[in-house]
Amino acid sequence: MSSQNIYILGIESSCDDTAASIIHNGRILSNVIASQKIHEEFGGVVPELASRAHQQNIVPVVHQALKKAGITKDKLHAIAFTRGPGLMGSLLVGTSFAKSLAYGLNIPLIDVNHMQAHILAHFIDEEGFNKPSFPFLAMTISGGHTQIVEVTSHFDMTVIGETIDDAVGEAYDKSGKILGLGYPAGPEIDKRTQTGNPKAYQFTKPKVSGLNFSFSGLKTAILYFIQREVKANPNFIEENLNDICASIQYTIIGILIDKLKLATKQTGIKQIAIGGGVSANSGIRQALKDGEQKFGWTTYVPKFEFTTDNAAMIAIVGYLKYLEGNFAEQNVTASARLKI
Ligand code: KG4
Ligand code: ZN
Repeated sequence: MSSQNIYILGIESSCDDTAASIIHNGRILSNVIASQKIHEEFGGVVPELASRAHQQNIVPVVHQALKKAGITKDKLHAIAFTRGPGLMGSLLVGTSFAKSLAYGLNIPLIDVNHMQAHILAHFIDEEGFNKPSFPFLAMTISGGHTQIVEVTSHFDMTVIGETIDDAVGEAYDKSGKILGLGYPAGPEIDKRTQTGNPKAYQFTKPKVSGLNFSFSGLKTAILYFIQREVKANPNFIEENLNDICASIQYTIIGILIDKLKLATKQTGIKQIAIGGGVSANSGIRQALKDGEQKFGWTTYVPKFEFTTDNAAMIAIVGYLKYLEGNFAEQNVTASARLKI
């Protein structure tokens, strides 16, 4: 199959972002996202509201992606969509839309695993960003995911560690809620960390064996710590906010890096690629850089717009699958708990 002039539309609707992207061969021509502000007032994603917003957003978002790419829909060679994992009501909107459009245009349909897409986003052609070579370790860290995956080839991946409860982004957001910060709290905690003392307060790291993670105990420890301190001094949070944030971040990054160190030791693989919204974090970025010096790691952080939930990562997987002739049937169904 010629790989010379392929246009693919990618559609992402697994959580609270409605996104569409056009890829031309391996290069992204447009990457449009409608984020749903509605959830902010609830401090988390409300599934029913999310699927309703997807329904409102999907047509304009796809339209805009085509327009920004400067192509019309008859130029498309295939439609790629997120099949799972994610919220069922949200996935259904993207899945039905992709199926109808592929059927109407009489072009192949390509199902994409959202977790694979976070990893394969590293294979988008983008100036200034190198692609990892195989094998490498991928760590996906966001509000919904925390996984370490051993990647042997584009579609040969094994999850070697994952969270047994909260995702790392949730640890940030729930800690932020305890401190009275807005949602999502990750960026603000990261910002305040810059002027805080990371060793001001100690939180015990969870004891989870192997490469799995746990963050719910940390959240409870922070909650009890804050309750205790506020009882003694009602202004404790305001007076020490940056130090509290820095200490929380120090603990969280320590947990991630400990597991990465163990993963590189167990697998002998020293190439590490990260993805997901938390990869924007300055602490993890610095720790990876340090790892290059200290442990001989080679690390990859994708362009920010390809790390949070987006459709460019769905489009690149669509392109890679298209090259292999790996298409979905019209009767494919969304799968909320789809595994890698
Ligand atoms: O990938 P993403 O946009 O959405 C999903 O959760 O799938 O990730 C959002 C998460 C939120 O939990 C947010 O607090 C966290 O990423 N986040 C950060 C930073 N920027 C975003 N966490 C720590 N530091 C940051 N700079
Ligand atoms: Zn995601």
